[in-house]
Amino acid sequence: MPALINPSILSADFMNLERELQAIAAADFVHVDVMDNHFVPNLTLGLPVVKRIAEVSPVPLDVHLMIEDADRWAPEYAALGAASVTFHAEATQAPVRLARELRSRGVRAGIALRPASPVEPLLDLLPEFDMILVMTVEPGFGGQSFIEGMLPKIRRARQAVVESGADTWIQVDGGVARDTIGRIARAGANVFVAGSAVYGAPDVAAEIVALRGLADA
Ligand code: DX5
Ligand code: ZN
Repeated sequence: MPALINPSILSADFMNLERELQAIAAADFVHVDVMDNHFVPNLTLGLPVVKRIAEVSPVPLDVHLMIEDADRWAPEYAALGAASVTFHAEATQAPVRLARELRSRGVRAGIALRPASPVEPLLDLLPEFDMILVMTVEPGFGGQSFIEGMLPKIRRARQAVVESGADTWIQVDGGVARDTIGRIARAGANVFVAGSAVYGAPDVAAEIVALRGLADA
């Protein structure tokens, strides 16, 4: 399966979201970072804005919830038209129940891990999730540097996916750029979130193509 490139609109111009969405029409998904100022020390978008993004975006929505009480809120994001909803393992009481609820609404269910959270507890549950998101920065802000120590975690996740035969995608978010994406892909990720690398590039569309090429090389 070719690498998927999901630009994060966290690094876009929030005053011109429609234009910024059109600029990434060549992407696979648009990554929408929802933050509540409790789970992470930053505040971004909520349900009404994400709903409008879903209506306007030329590509499907990959929603990344960095919010507390995911059990309460994630289904609301599934209902507004997102293609994929990822909640944090640290913010749910019942990850399997929540993932099943998301899937029952026809949405891909992802589970995310902060850098210090181990992947091992998820490895027996892989068929329950459409995606595991390995955070490679502390969630909360764009433009941070990639945590190299996460590469073995990505490798262990990929090995477990292969052994299980599950069709679980492995997404990486944080510090993905031209100088890191090759290593991340070789470690086993197949979905790449890139915020500052894409929206900070002089030619946004060309950067998506370049990153995809480096991941698939
Ligand atoms: C960080 C967000 C990321 C962020 C990544 O908490 O989850 O999606 O936009 O930004 P870059 O690609 O600049 O590291
Ligand atoms: Zn994100």
